[in-house]
Amino acid sequence: MPSPCISLKDDFLMAPIRLTCVAGARPNFMKVAALLEAFRGRERFAPRLVHTGQHFSPDMSRVFFEELELPQPDAYLGIAGGSHAVQTAEVMKAIEIEFTERRPDLLVVVGDVNSTVAATLVASKLGIRVAHVEAGLRSFDRDMPEEINRLVTDVLSDHLFVSEPSGVQNLRAEGIPEERIFLVGNVMIDTLLRFRERAAESSILEQLSIAVGGYAVVTLHRPSNVDDPGRLGELIAMLKRVAEKLTVVFPVHPRTRQQAEQAGLTMDGLLCVPPLGYLDFLRLQSQARLVLTDSGGIQEETTILGVPCLTLRENTERPITIEQGTNKLVGTNPAAVLEAVTEVLAGSPPTQQTPALWDGHAAERIADILQRLTASPVPRSTNAQQRSSEPQA
Ligand code: UD1
Repeated sequence: MPSPCISLKDDFLMAPIRLTCVAGARPNFMKVAALLEAFRGRERFAPRLVHTGQHFSPDMSRVFFEELELPQPDAYLGIAGGSHAVQTAEVMKAIEIEFTERRPDLLVVVGDVNSTVAATLVASKLGIRVAHVEAGLRSFDRDMPEEINRLVTDVLSDHLFVSEPSGVQNLRAEGIPEERIFLVGNVMIDTLLRFRERAAESSILEQLSIAVGGYAVVTLHRPSNVDDPGRLGELIAMLKRVAEKLTVVFPVHPRTRQQAEQAGLTMDGLLCVPPLGYLDFLRLQSQARLVLTDSGGIQEETTILGVPCLTLRENTERPITIEQGTNKLVGTNPAAVLEAVTEVLAGSPPTQQTPALWDGHAAERIADILQRLTASPVPRSTNAQQRSSEPQA
């Protein structure tokens, strides 16, 4: 008997969607871990993981692949180091070849790093649909390289997946059409909740000879805090004052280490360690008396862990961590930070609410929505055609 005739349309509908996820820097890996887990469970998607190489040291990259059970990247672009322009341009050059050869139906990017904006720019001009996860966050501070990356990525994305309500408001205010915006929750928290029990088995506290609740954790890497030797020197001096009150554990980011070494700044009095793996760092954060940080993701993680977080910045793109979480913006004035530390040490543990949809299922929601959105055939050139027919400013 002849096999039933399959029309072109049926054939398209049955073919899996070729979906490329791009990750480049440390905070991307926990986000793509949640997304790939959700995509791999569905026949509709044929996911491919591309690692740009922006973060390349074993302790900034490989350890996350091992601990988060991420598959080996299908492609590794090997773009490491360089200025922002060089890094972005090199990722663009290499990823254009990847996209041209592989012809994905959809690009999924996360966060706000240089690799995110580079991949988005290239996909957008090749007419590949772009989904941005963690869209809409705004610090309104264009001195932050990440803010530029967020703005450019969002304006070029077709599907914008947002982690907190402020992101929806920001995108609406920027004129992004409503049908592109989806409030889905936080994929970084999906990974935290998935690995929390495993992290409880980490022996990092014993290795560092520190007691539950008896130490502060510090992370610093923002260019605005670490690239100016004067500012970095002041911050380190302030941390040494905190260390007079309780142990300060400082996993030092490569950027910060390089800048401190060049400026001849010593960190005696602080318990400095290399960047930690995911499970060790999660355990360290969860048992800390307080966290001092300029990271975005850590503001979110401490919100869920219920640990007081003092953010050493003048602004945050994640206001929900202040409104509902345990985060407080304290700036970088040493006296103000020390006062805030004293207040935390004198006070009772903070009360915390879990933001809506930070429930461990954000990646599943994204997969559901993408499955629905890709249910009808969309010619690959649609986006490019659509954009060129939109009114020009
Ligand atoms: C990048 C992201 C930032 C993110 C941070 C998390 C941008 C604009 N910034 O900042 O949003 O919060 O990652 O870590 O994309 N280096 C190493 N080993 C590594 C990685 C980097 O030695 O594995 C060195 C680089 O060569 C460079 C410096 O550290 O000299 C900074 O790395 P870079 O990727 O430029 O930016 P980050 O400061 O890490």
